[in-house]
Amino acid sequence: MTHPVSLKDHLAGALADTGSARAAAAETVLALSGAALDIARLLDDGPLAGNLAEVVAEESHGDAQKFLDRHTNDVIIEALQAAPVAWLGSEEMEHPLAMAADGTVVVAVDPLDGSSNIDTDAPVGTIFSILPMPSARVTDPLAAFLRQGTEQVAAGYVIYGPHVALVLTMGQGTQRFILDRARGEFVLQCERVAIPPHTSEYAINASNYRHWDDPVRQYVEDCLRGEEGPRGLNFNTRWLGSMVGDAYRIMARGGIYLYPADARAGYARGRLRLLYEANPIAWLVEQAGGAATDGAARILEILPTELHERVPLVFGSRIEVERIRDVYVAARFEGENSPLFGPRSLFRGAMRQE
Ligand code: F6P
Repeated sequence: MTHPVSLKDHLAGALADTGSARAAAAETVLALSGAALDIARLLDDGPLAGNLAEVVAEESHGDAQKFLDRHTNDVIIEALQAAPVAWLGSEEMEHPLAMAADGTVVVAVDPLDGSSNIDTDAPVGTIFSILPMPSARVTDPLAAFLRQGTEQVAAGYVIYGPHVALVLTMGQGTQRFILDRARGEFVLQCERVAIPPHTSEYAINASNYRHWDDPVRQYVEDCLRGEEGPRGLNFNTRWLGSMVGDAYRIMARGGIYLYPADARAGYARGRLRLLYEANPIAWLVEQAGGAATDGAARILEILPTELHERVPLVFGSRIEVERIRDVYVAARFEGENSPLFGPRSLFRGAMRQE
């Protein structure tokens, strides 16, 4: 049997590039993987470790903060003390936290994605995005965070499910590592994650149907009509309520995830956060051959204006994401009630033949 490649082995090349942002990012990824081990151990105990889902505070941006949200944030702050991180931005903290004065990267993190699932034994995760510090020492840390996702130097997430996995990219494909509990470290399981371009599986919270705009309703209605509809194909739905879980499935067998903007108060820009949810997932997905948009525009090219900014998010199998983009772009030009989108229109007929 060949010797497994550990995360540290995998990062050896980047770590050896002393002084570079890649080396700092690799060191930071290792520190985050240490935090993930601690979090995984706690999750193993579930309710035996206490009421992990207890609401402990209301965050400034509205969501309830649960014990595990706060705890995972503390574990990450602790783990990053020894890493070359200048600032930490987190879903759980209103403002960036100053870390090492000589740090050369900044980290944006969602310490616990899917916190509505804490007490359901469904997967939850930790998502992170690492950006290089701008060369001139910035006095306003926000300037270090408010950059396009294309500038990320590393991005990934850990999923705490029946097995614990780390999905990582540093721009050379997307790799999947599995936590080997006996060794106490992540080992490489897939060198090149590849998302199939086509799919017949979609993930969306359909209870929001009445709040969606026309392109999203149209897309889902077409899927629901199956073989008899314009797609000529039966679709399946999966919705975990944890984006990390849906992303993991999509990276394993294809699919599409949608959290669009909708008409509910507070959802005009969807639900997901650009800096520490959409950007890292978008880069991982693109590096695996998929696509990620806000419906129409590429996520990685959006210039953020706020640390906790939300963004509508569509990601997954490339052809399916492009189909939605085409519907949005056409709707923008033609107006939402254009006959172009009527059931017998040329446009829909053309899509059917693809
Ligand atoms: O906040 C992010 C998130 O928890 C995702 O992990 C998940 O896909 C989504 O929100 C669930 O939202 P909802 O509860 O509206 O279905």
